[in-house]
Amino acid sequence: MQGKHDLKQHEPHIARMYDYYLGGKDHYQVDAEAAEKVLEALPEVRVAAQANRGFIHRATRYLAGEAGVRQFLDIGTGIPTEPNLHQIAQEQAPDARVVYVDNDPIVLAHARALMVGTREGRTDYIQADATEPEAILAAAARTLDFSQPVGLSLIALLNFVPGAYEVTATLVDALAPGSYLAMTHLTADFDPEGVGATVKVYTERGLYCHPRDKAEIGRFFDGMELVEPGVVPIHRWRAPVEPPKTMDVKVPGYAAVARKP
Ligand SMILES: C[S@@+](CC[C@H](N)C(=O)[O-])C[C@H]1O[C@@H](n2cnc3c(N)ncnc32)[C@H](O)[C@@H]1O
Repeated sequence: MQGKHDLKQHEPHIARMYDYYLGGKDHYQVDAEAAEKVLEALPEVRVAAQANRGFIHRATRYLAGEAGVRQFLDIGTGIPTEPNLHQIAQEQAPDARVVYVDNDPIVLAHARALMVGTREGRTDYIQADATEPEAILAAAARTLDFSQPVGLSLIALLNFVPGAYEVTATLVDALAPGSYLAMTHLTADFDPEGVGATVKVYTERGLYCHPRDKAEIGRFFDGMELVEPGVVPIHRWRAPVEPPKTMDVKVPGYAAVARKP
């Protein structure tokens, strides 16, 4: 299993493989090779990664705009891509505070890019592991006021995290009423064969990867109020134009946003 703070160039990392899918330059040969194996299993993984980024933009715009959220905790941030979550949030609300968290040293190496925000707002970066949510909450409290609503983003993260339900429950418990959880999660519902082969690529390389079906993903939101349109394929969540049906098999993940009452 991947260690918490090791930057190994001879083992693939989740963040660097994702960078490869997005056409970035922050990966090593070993990541490119593993990512190419995923591309054999899921030829549309690049479309899926882009759809995932699109959801981050729409959900953050909704949270900072319509929902009036001014504080954000984004765990599993990944290597920065433009625009990052704080840029979207602070475009809507310049005083928004954003805390980013990832366990990958390569994301830490880019943290400076994540911390250039507005003068009125604040951004911070925490190098931490999602399996230690209490430590994340304690460090995030330096920047965020947990007596006020927080938008918690767990985007394309939980399928990589053992004990994901417990982790999510600990984080949501710590949030004030009126807070939100925004999430995307890998599923085998649309392309069981392709996703099964993808899981094999990750797990054979020591990287935990666990897809869930729609009902299992819905369970992460127990006790919360799902925002319309509920748990839907990632590219369908408040899409500006109705996506073609053929997209569903290309984007093997669900997205949802819910409010803590
Ligand atoms: C697929 S990327 C998603 C990046 C970004 N959230 C997005 O959706 O564009 C998953 C990210 O989660 C991070 N990650 C995986 N397991 C983690 C853990 N246990 N703790 C913290 N971060 C983790 C990886 O390093 C990677 O940056």
